[in-house]
Amino acid sequence: MPLVFATNNPNKIAEIQNQLSEGYDFKSLKEIGCLEEIPETSGTIEGNARQKARYVKDNYGYDCFSEDTGLLIDALDDAPGVDTAHYAGPQRDATDNNQKVLQNLEDKAQRTARFKTVICLVRGDEEHFFEGICEGHIAAIPTGEDGFGYDPIFIPTEGDGRTFAQMNKTEKQAISHRGRAVRKLVEFLK
Ligand code: IMP
Repeated sequence: MPLVFATNNPNKIAEIQNQLSEGYDFKSLKEIGCLEEIPETSGTIEGNARQKARYVKDNYGYDCFSEDTGLLIDALDDAPGVDTAHYAGPQRDATDNNQKVLQNLEDKAQRTARFKTVICLVRGDEEHFFEGICEGHIAAIPTGEDGFGYDPIFIPTEGDGRTFAQMNKTEKQAISHRGRAVRKLVEFLK
């Protein structure tokens, strides 16, 4: 039975591809003919992960996992949180989002933050959730060329002072929210 990864984000696919164990028939949304935008309207990170996986199971019949990620900044009362993708507006632009975070933190001494990823696996009648958290802080200015989204302004605590955007995929995955959540999923699938 194929297992679908319910995302159209090529960055996410690239990040988790080498973590997924062999022996599974993984399929993308494109491969099952799901080209429409899947709603993410639940209001929580967990709820959005579940909503996307359920959408695929209910409409296409495939077992499926989906993930949703949010950036939670302490000095901004855990914003952008569930609004992480469109923090600076519906254009969902990473540069705009990063600028808005930096502006909102201009007068704040505290810059601690965390990324949270929730994966929801819908397999048959079962639903399983896997969470990954990565603690860190927001940089003063965007730095680095790799990665995506908020990577240029996020400095993980377990790293060496570089932003995620200054790390290669392997370095990022070893300590990242998504890396952690995917490792839990892979363990479960074994
Ligand atoms: P979503 O989970 O696809 O809804 O993504 C939420 C938002 O978080 C988007 O703006 C992504 O670009 C951003 N995002 C998700 N994962 C990461 C990451 O690993 N690093 C930086 N930004 C991320």
